[in-house]
Amino acid sequence: MQNKHKKTVAVLFGGCSTEYGVSLKSAASVIDHLDESKYELVQIGITREGTWLRYGGNADGIREDRWQEHPSCIPAFLSPSREVAGIVELAGTEFRVTPVDVVFPVLHGKNGEDGTVQGLLELAGIPYVGCDTLSSAICMDKGIAGQLVKAAGIDTAASITVYAEDDLYTAVKEAEPLGFPLYIKPARSGSSYGITKAYDKLELMEGIRFAFMHDTKVIVEQNITGFEVGCAVLGDAELMIAEIDEIELQGEFFDYDEKYSLISSKIHLPARIPAETADSVMEKAKVIYRVLGCSGLARVDLFIGEDGRIVFNEVNTMPGFTAASRYPNMMRASHISYPELMDRLIRLALHKGAAL
Ligand SMILES: Nc1ncnc2c1ncn2[C@@H]1O[C@H](COP(=O)(O)OP(=O)(O)O)[C@@H](O)[C@H]1O
Ligand SMILES: [Mg+2]
Repeated sequence: MQNKHKKTVAVLFGGCSTEYGVSLKSAASVIDHLDESKYELVQIGITREGTWLRYGGNADGIREDRWQEHPSCIPAFLSPSREVAGIVELAGTEFRVTPVDVVFPVLHGKNGEDGTVQGLLELAGIPYVGCDTLSSAICMDKGIAGQLVKAAGIDTAASITVYAEDDLYTAVKEAEPLGFPLYIKPARSGSSYGITKAYDKLELMEGIRFAFMHDTKVIVEQNITGFEVGCAVLGDAELMIAEIDEIELQGEFFDYDEKYSLISSKIHLPARIPAETADSVMEKAKVIYRVLGCSGLARVDLFIGEDGRIVFNEVNTMPGFTAASRYPNMMRASHISYPELMDRLIRLALHKGAAL
C-alpha cells in the first residue's frame, strides 16, 4: 500500500551506457540519503543491455552490482501514457501500475543524461529531477554546448569537429595548427571515456581513431594550461552556486581512474583562487547554466588558465552523486546536507513539473 502523505520518488539507476557502473554508485548514495519518512521509494534499474526492472532490495545490492539477481526484480517500465503517470510492472501474469510523483533519473551519459529519458518523462507528464530534454541533449554534446557558450561571449578552447565520414588526414591537417598537445574527445561521452591527449601527429591520428570507437563525432581541442574548477549550480528561477572546488592534477589529465580513486589528484574545496576570480567564475557559470537552458541542477566545469583566462570546459547535467562526489561535497561546504539537497531537488522538480 502506498502512503498518501508521502511523495513517491522513483530512482532510475544503471543505464545502457558506458557509465552504468558510475550510476550504480551515485544512485545507491541518493537512495541512502532519501528520507524514508518523507518519501516512498521505487527503485528502477536499467541493465547495461537496456532492460528495465523494478528492484526491491537494498542500496548495497545496487552499489555492488548484485541487484539484478535479487528475487524482487520484475519487469517494469515507465509508461508514456499520461493516464498511467507511473510505472507499469509485470507481476506474474498481471500488469500492475505504481503511480509516481517524481522521478530522479540518476543516470550518467548516453541513454540517460542525454535527453532521451527526459523526453520519455515529458511525454508521460511525470515531474523529474534535473535538466529538460533539450538542455540535457545540448550539454551531452561537447561540440554544440561549446558553440553556444562561445556565442554567449565566454571563452572556450579552440577546437575542430571531426565526423566519422571525414577524411582522417584532412582532419589531422586542420587540427595541427591548433598546436600540440591536443585533447581528443568523443563529442558525447563522460567519465573521460575515449579521451586522449596527443603530443604529436601520430598520437593525434590514433586518438581520433580511438575516440571514434565511442562516438561518430569527435572534438579535437587545444590544451588549456592551468587547472579545472567546478561550480555546483542549484535552482531554476533563482540560482544558488555552492563553494567552488578545484582539481589539482599530478598526472596528465583527469581520467577515469583519477576521477573515481583520486590516485594522485587532489580536490581542493574551496578552490585556491582569489575572491574576485571566484566571483567571476560564478558569474560565468550562471551565464552558461542559463544559455544551455539548465534547470534543477548541473555542475559547470571551467578551466582557469595560467594567464588567468576563465575557459569553459563542460556541463554535467547529472554529475556524480556518491557521498564522496564533487557536487554533493560542494553543497555540503555551503551548508546544504545531502538529505537537504535531495529535498530541494525534489521540490524543484515538483514545481517545474506542474507545467508539464
Ligand atoms: N582543453 C583541455 N585542456 C586541458 N585539459 C583538458 C581539456 N579538455 C579536457 N581536459 C582534461 O580531461 C578531463 C576530461 O575531459 P572532459 O571534457 O571534462 O570530459 P568528461 O565528460 O569525460 O569529464 C578534464 O577533466 C581535464 O582534466
Ligand atoms: Mg569532465
